[in-house]
Amino acid sequence: MNARTATAAVYRGAGPDVEITEITVAAPRRGEVLVEIRASGVCGSDRHVIDGEWHVPSPTVMGHEGAGIIVELGADVTGLAVGDHVSLVWNQACQRCVNCQSGKPWACTDLVSNDCVMPDGTTRLARGEEAVYPYLAVGSMSEYAVVPASAAIRMPSELPFEIAALISCSIHTGLGAVQNNARVSAGESSVVVGCGGVGLSIVMGLRLAGAHPIIAVDRNPEKLALALEAGATHALLADEHTAAQIQELTAGGADVAFEAIGNPRTIQQLPGHVRLGGRAVLVGMPPEDAPIPLDVLDLCYRGITVIASNYGGGVPARDFPRYAALYLDGRLPLDALVSHRISIHDVNEAFRVMRSGADARSVIVFEGANPATA
Ligand SMILES: NC(=O)c1ccc[n+]([C@@H]2O[C@H](COP(=O)([O-])OP(=O)(O)OC[C@H]3O[C@@H](n4cnc5c(N)ncnc54)[C@H](O)[C@@H]3O)[C@@H](O)[C@H]2O)c1
Ligand SMILES: [Zn+2]
Ligand SMILES: [Zn+2]
Repeated sequence: MNARTATAAVYRGAGPDVEITEITVAAPRRGEVLVEIRASGVCGSDRHVIDGEWHVPSPTVMGHEGAGIIVELGADVTGLAVGDHVSLVWNQACQRCVNCQSGKPWACTDLVSNDCVMPDGTTRLARGEEAVYPYLAVGSMSEYAVVPASAAIRMPSELPFEIAALISCSIHTGLGAVQNNARVSAGESSVVVGCGGVGLSIVMGLRLAGAHPIIAVDRNPEKLALALEAGATHALLADEHTAAQIQELTAGGADVAFEAIGNPRTIQQLPGHVRLGGRAVLVGMPPEDAPIPLDVLDLCYRGITVIASNYGGGVPARDFPRYAALYLDGRLPLDALVSHRISIHDVNEAFRVMRSGADARSVIVFEGANPATA
């Protein structure tokens, strides 16, 4: 098929706003699929980029938490069909290296999607003569995206696109951090610092795992109300008393604590919230090139396990459908995560809301059906 035009949110390397503009999306090549995007979440990782905290090739079509419908298959694609509803994977593992073969695609040694290019090192996106790069090789803040077939996971058609989109990042990250990284057992005490899309997903994962208590911490009271709805047993407004309150509620420290902000200060404080022998799980990602000092002597004396979580330590092809099934069965209240359904034209406002810490997740929704161009 011919290239298509798409309205997309493009970051040009100097924030804080993205530009809403037309791009062209080339046909999928061998082993790739073209997806008509129907929903794209606004994730904290997109914000890190447009706020200049992480560097990517630009111009960049933002968005990596996306879902849509397959509208075209490249050559040699098997197991997927036009019309399939899919959630997109931003950690596009090679499926061949030793870590992929060991069930650890999040530690793929041949990963290039972090460089915002397709597996062959190129991009299918352009604006006139200029190459445009898809953020994390997804670029879901666009009417169309091309991804490797292995990065399009078929989902049940009755699953709302907004939920399918959130499963592709925040939910896979949050639930996976609980299940795969921290391996939380029923009855373990827990703390979640930061209750945005990722933190609320961690809270839901902790409820599924049977953790108790589940102590949610945020600087925004609205987020704490959502955390209580999502399954937190206690909600603490972040201030200078937070650490002492956690100690009191857990009789000396939680079994497991999660940081889901990416703030150097709250990351540094995290091990202080866990008991001797407890686990401190780092999910929030800080600005690049800004190492955070940790009190290693204290960590050693107290036998703390520090776990760095990447994409929930999960396997998308296995986990996305599981999360969809749990939602459809009424066991994961994921609707609570979607605070706003917005047009792509309102995405800069959604980033402003995110910076203020208000609301859960804004999700860009697309109507679909854009005509092909000659
Ligand atoms: N490890 C991974 O694989 C992975 C995957 C996705 C996202 N992330 C990272 O997770 C982090 C969170 O993402 P998100 O989309 O949930 O972001 P978000 O902006 O939606 O949520 C952040 C939350 O933290 C709260 N907060 C901010 N500063 C605070 C403070 N000082 N004390 C208490 N609460 C505070 C905000 O009110 C908000 O509720 C980001 O750093 C993102 O890059 C990591
Ligand atoms: Zn994300
Ligand atoms: Zn690999």
